[in-house]
Amino acid sequence: MTPFLLVALLPLLLGQAAALANYSPSQSFAQCQKRTSEPLEGCPPDTLYVSQTNESVAFRTIQSAIASIPNDTTPYTILIAPGIYTEQLNVTRQGPLTLLGTSDRPWRSEPYIDIGYNSSAVNDVQIYWNSANHNASFTDNAFTGVLTVGPNLNATLTGSGPTGFAVPDDTPFGCTDFRAYNIDFRNEFAPYSDGPAHALGVSRANAGFYSCGFYSWQDTIYIGKLGNAYFYDTVVAGETDFLYGFGTLFIEKSALSLRSCGGGITAWKGTNTTFTNKYGVYIADSQVLAANSSIAAVIVDKCSLGRPWNALHRSVFMNTYLDPGILPAGYTEWAGTFNGNIGVNTTMAVYDVYGPGYDAAAEAASNVTTVFSGEEIRPYLTPVDVFMTPDGAQPNVAWIDKSVSFSPRRRGRSGR
Ligand SMILES: *[C@@H]1O[C@H](CO)[C@@H](O)[C@H](O)[C@H]1NC(C)=O
Ligand SMILES: *[C@@H]1O[C@H](CO)[C@@H](O)[C@H](O)[C@H]1NC(C)=O
Ligand SMILES: *[C@@H]1O[C@H](CO)[C@@H](O)[C@H](O)[C@H]1NC(C)=O
Ligand SMILES: *[C@@H]1O[C@H](CO)[C@@H](O)[C@H](O)[C@H]1NC(C)=O
Ligand SMILES: *[C@@H]1O[C@H](CO)[C@@H](O)[C@H](O)[C@H]1NC(C)=O
Ligand SMILES: *[C@@H]1O[C@H](CO)[C@@H](O)[C@H](O)[C@H]1NC(C)=O
Ligand SMILES: *[C@@H]1O[C@H](CO)[C@@H](O)[C@H](O)[C@H]1NC(C)=O
Ligand SMILES: *[C@@H]1O[C@H](CO)[C@@H](O)[C@H](O)[C@H]1NC(C)=O
Ligand SMILES: *[C@@H]1O[C@H](CO)[C@@H](O)[C@H](O)[C@H]1NC(C)=O
Ligand SMILES: *[C@@H]1O[C@H](CO)[C@@H](O)[C@H](O)[C@H]1NC(C)=O
Repeated sequence: MTPFLLVALLPLLLGQAAALANYSPSQSFAQCQKRTSEPLEGCPPDTLYVSQTNESVAFRTIQSAIASIPNDTTPYTILIAPGIYTEQLNVTRQGPLTLLGTSDRPWRSEPYIDIGYNSSAVNDVQIYWNSANHNASFTDNAFTGVLTVGPNLNATLTGSGPTGFAVPDDTPFGCTDFRAYNIDFRNEFAPYSDGPAHALGVSRANAGFYSCGFYSWQDTIYIGKLGNAYFYDTVVAGETDFLYGFGTLFIEKSALSLRSCGGGITAWKGTNTTFTNKYGVYIADSQVLAANSSIAAVIVDKCSLGRPWNALHRSVFMNTYLDPGILPAGYTEWAGTFNGNIGVNTTMAVYDVYGPGYDAAAEAASNVTTVFSGEEIRPYLTPVDVFMTPDGAQPNVAWIDKSVSFSPRRRGRSGR
């Protein structure tokens, strides 16, 4: 892209930034998260506190605090002092658990996502675990994760083949209500796609993330079998297949940050079930943007919205801004597979997307991307529409922070 074009686009970008800033982060734990001389002031009773510097605190690492909690149904909260933590986190318990990053942002009603090229938002709590399944150095991608939420190791494995790891039916459900607020999860194994490198894995569990950041290059987010995840005011950065899995992911008022292009943004494997399932990834009221102006100039028209990991892939971008980095045709086939992995039940759709990355004519001509009608989008509009229990019951949204979700959406372009 020429500098002239960038200058020409600037008002549009700034206009978008203004439009998206017009909402609040979750303030459910603003008092507890706020920086104060008495860190636990305003926190739920019995909140555990993790600090690397405060001598009188029992927990130096986040995982030691998690490990101290019994596997019962009592809700627990962990407040984390500002800092850079280098550790891998596993949450296996069944009862509710909330991780709070210390931050003044919720108190100031300041969203985390800083939209526009050169976004440099950073939370005060950063968790690093740099690990990639490079050259199959691990037996499964699950071993690379910064944070993994699931009842046991087998439940979180990705496996291989069209149906992935055969998680036994009698595997218990893990955390019924996991939440994290204002925490960055970073897997910076290499500054390019160098094998699967999870920032997050959620399998057989319900997990909500508010004002968080997930940074990796390949396979950043894995939502495994029977996993339900909800993202709000959250940044996900990646290059290759960086939203992938089997379960259900609903992303709202968030940003997908393109660090380069590879594979597709979404890569889902659907599952045949006896009930009509809604497994898939849904991106709503969000923005897809190059990570900075340097990479923006390199990726014009190159990034695929997604590709089918198996023929039951389902993904929908709705009411979302697409920047010039998006491939005009939208989605792509999975090269080297029969029929590109596209079958009668493959759903690779957009609804009411907009911005310079949306080319309606090229998408229609692709035969790969579906432009949903108002009728076709209806089954997937909101978290209430898509999240289900393991046996297909709905709604399943009690684990979502009610202060931010369930906004009436989908008024269509005219109402925006
Ligand atoms: C250290 O933590 C204790 C609570 O465990 C708190 O009372 C004290 O104020 C903290 N000190 C600092 C400097 O934050
Ligand atoms: C937690 O408890 C449940 C119910 O007893 C059990 O099924 C599950 O295996 C336990 N998980 C862990 C990690 O101990
Ligand atoms: C991003 O912003 C920072 C701070 O304003 C500035 O120093 C830096 O040069 C910018 N980088 C790019 C690539 O625009
Ligand atoms: C990884 O595989 C590539 C080829 O796919 C090879 O060139 C490289 O040497 C391998 N690296 C290691 C550390 O085994
Ligand atoms: C987390 O789980 C992974 C995969 O089971 C394992 O390799 C790792 O050792 C676990 N880490 C902790 C801190 O429990
Ligand atoms: C995990 O799965 C493997 C392969 O199916 C199996 O051999 C092993 O027993 C399972 N482990 C547990 C703890 O269930
Ligand atoms: C821009 O973003 C890319 C991808 O994250 C990164 O590799 C590069 O270093 C960034 N460039 C600048 C100038 O910040
Ligand atoms: C789902 O069922 C169809 C029809 O029987 C079959 O062709 C397909 O392979 C199945 N897909 C998966 C992922 O099991
Ligand atoms: C497509 O989905 C329908 C309804 O779930 C199912 O009956 C059919 O077997 C599926 N076909 C394939 C090829 O997956
Ligand atoms: C889409 O389908 C039409 C009609 O079958 C065909 O003429 C066209 O070549 C196809 N386009 C692509 C990109 O495959």
